[in-house]
Amino acid sequence: MYKHIFSSVFLAIIGTSSFAQNAPTIIPIETRQNVLVLQTDKENHLGITYFGKKLSQATEYKLIPSQSRQRDGNAGIYNSAYTPAGTWNVSEPALQVTHGDGNKSLDLVYVSHSTAKENDNVSLTSIVLKDPVYAVEVTLFYKTYFQENVVEQWSVIKSEEKKPITLEKYASANLYFIAKDYYLTHYNGTWAKEMNPEEEQLTAGIRVLDSKLGTRANLYQPPTFSLSFDKPATETEGKVLLGTLAWSGNFKMEFEVDSYHNLRLIAGINPYSSEYPLASKQEFKTPSFIYTFSENGKGEASRNLHNWARKYRILDGEGTRMTLLNNWEATYFDFNEAKLSELFKDGKKLGVDLFLLDDGWFANKYPRNSDGAGLGDWQENVKKLPNGIGYLVKEAQKTGIKFGIWVEPEMVNPKSELYEKHPDWVIKQPQRPEHYMRNQLPLDLSNPEVQDFVYGILDKLFIENPDIAYIKWDCNATTFNPYSAYLEKSKQAQSKLYVDYVKGLYKVLEKLRTKYPKVPMMLCSGGGGRVDYEALKYFTEFWPSDNTDPLERIFMQWEYSYFFPSIALSAHVTDWGKQPLKFRTDVAMMGRLGYDIVVSHLNEKDLQFSQQAVTNYNAVKDIIFQGDLFRLVDPKKNDYAALMYVTKSKSKAVLFSYLVGNRNGDGSDTPIRLEGLDASKNYKVKELNLYPGTKSAIKEDQVYSGEYLMTAGFNPVVNARRTSVVLEIEAM
Ligand code: DGJ
Repeated sequence: MYKHIFSSVFLAIIGTSSFAQNAPTIIPIETRQNVLVLQTDKENHLGITYFGKKLSQATEYKLIPSQSRQRDGNAGIYNSAYTPAGTWNVSEPALQVTHGDGNKSLDLVYVSHSTAKENDNVSLTSIVLKDPVYAVEVTLFYKTYFQENVVEQWSVIKSEEKKPITLEKYASANLYFIAKDYYLTHYNGTWAKEMNPEEEQLTAGIRVLDSKLGTRANLYQPPTFSLSFDKPATETEGKVLLGTLAWSGNFKMEFEVDSYHNLRLIAGINPYSSEYPLASKQEFKTPSFIYTFSENGKGEASRNLHNWARKYRILDGEGTRMTLLNNWEATYFDFNEAKLSELFKDGKKLGVDLFLLDDGWFANKYPRNSDGAGLGDWQENVKKLPNGIGYLVKEAQKTGIKFGIWVEPEMVNPKSELYEKHPDWVIKQPQRPEHYMRNQLPLDLSNPEVQDFVYGILDKLFIENPDIAYIKWDCNATTFNPYSAYLEKSKQAQSKLYVDYVKGLYKVLEKLRTKYPKVPMMLCSGGGGRVDYEALKYFTEFWPSDNTDPLERIFMQWEYSYFFPSIALSAHVTDWGKQPLKFRTDVAMMGRLGYDIVVSHLNEKDLQFSQQAVTNYNAVKDIIFQGDLFRLVDPKKNDYAALMYVTKSKSKAVLFSYLVGNRNGDGSDTPIRLEGLDASKNYKVKELNLYPGTKSAIKEDQVYSGEYLMTAGFNPVVNARRTSVVLEIEAM
């Protein structure tokens, strides 16, 4: 722990040590293919000298010049591994503090490091840095997932000053890259328009990706990006880093091309309005910044992340997922027991595993018959559901289908009993008019009483209905007028609110998962307003967007797939869009398949098709969930999209192809080179999801070698008459 006494003796040892005579300390953070090399300089400052492909002789890391291109007499050290503010550095800091005495200077020098192996694959390197003058210590953590080539990085900041210090900025990670040029792909969007990519060449100055939205933090921008070095990476070529911050709140990522054309990256919680007081001997742990690097393009990089996420992060990532029928678009708020019982039967007829009851089942004084009232009052609405949820669970079970339910526990409508009873639990400025998104406000999760209330909603549901098999957890409003009556009352700084909200949310989720470790749970925020790898520790899947128009979904799902494996992506067949049912189904099969349609409105052929599709999906879903994903034909650049999932053994694959633009309806007029198969194996190709009465354009009895399929290629024959095609490829 914190052993040093901050005295002049300590200063002599650390601050101005006779380091010049000693060899620098070199710390390689290695995964199977890559390395991040950290090295101390003459003054014991820790810098990054190299990031990229691993060298075969680790002894050569010491040959990498420590600061030749990074040092500038005037401007400080650019390649710092964690840049402190207020001393020798005048570039963008990773850590900025105000000490107990009001002083704003900070220096961080290397003290020690150690690496502990968690198992054959996972190691944790921790590096202790200290300020020689003030009693502030930072430990940088680098958790490596060797096989997956993933690094998870975070920092722990600790103070032993007598008075509290204030953390003004407290990033998770500070990285440094040396390349010819840098190309950043980031995402923008809003409700129903999530994940629009833009790629730009970074030029001198700082490019910022951030959110200040609080609760629905990713509504306009997610904390995910890809960064290509030298030239824009493709699926199969180029050096590329995929990065994402595991934090369900405000974030800030700064990409600074410095005066030497090197790139500094600082990623973490957004310091915006979030100065965080830290009392003596307390620690602040930042969220994790997670990244992977590939020399072979975005395809490999994203497979790295998928492998890591399934094994180490997403709840039940190596398990399976249920198919479901959701009633949101079929009924909206307008349902009763009789209607729901019919829907259970529809779900059963369709062949799905679960029925998901969406919004509208609760509140009595202000019934939840629209999004204008009732949120917060989590008692069954007696008019719609006189026999309660328990009755529905049983009815569903009698029909042979499981039952799941929607909640939005962090939010409140002003028109609710909860709001009337606990106005002090609501985030709002006491002296200003309230400002709503979807007629609602977030509850103050920095308040432990509110945390208990939110936990209690779910706990009560499970205690009363232990057979509830699925939860959809929604969150539809951003945070306006941030102010906490609880922080005020407990004499804590208001600037803690954004951070303590997220910590409060994680406390609730942690407690919930301790008691109910397995129940599948969907992370929804009016669509993809909150998707990140910290939340996904507690959730089995996420809702990418309320936009289920299949054409739009092809593009969105394509972009999400760079960061998240398909097992985590919920995709429903709905009535959005003008595409035929087959197209809608084939697109939804790319993820965890669900339906949000009125099954009884399907004509005979559509029903027959859908029943067969659910059966087909059940037969191949493990390939989609656990297989390696290869994006073959990019819909942004072509008239059609194609992608395939291949089992690790390379014995089975599923290929999806969709027409996205048919100005001339040509579609796939040439063969597509498949990927990920075994060149020496022989395969047969079979078409799935044929609409009743149609014939496949694919010869099912033809045998192809893997080499042939990956070299000469295969034409799925997607065109204006066959707008979507699903192929099962199986080794013989
Ligand atoms: C927003 C979600 O994204 C929808 O799927 C639905 O659950 C509604 N909320 C319900 O209010």
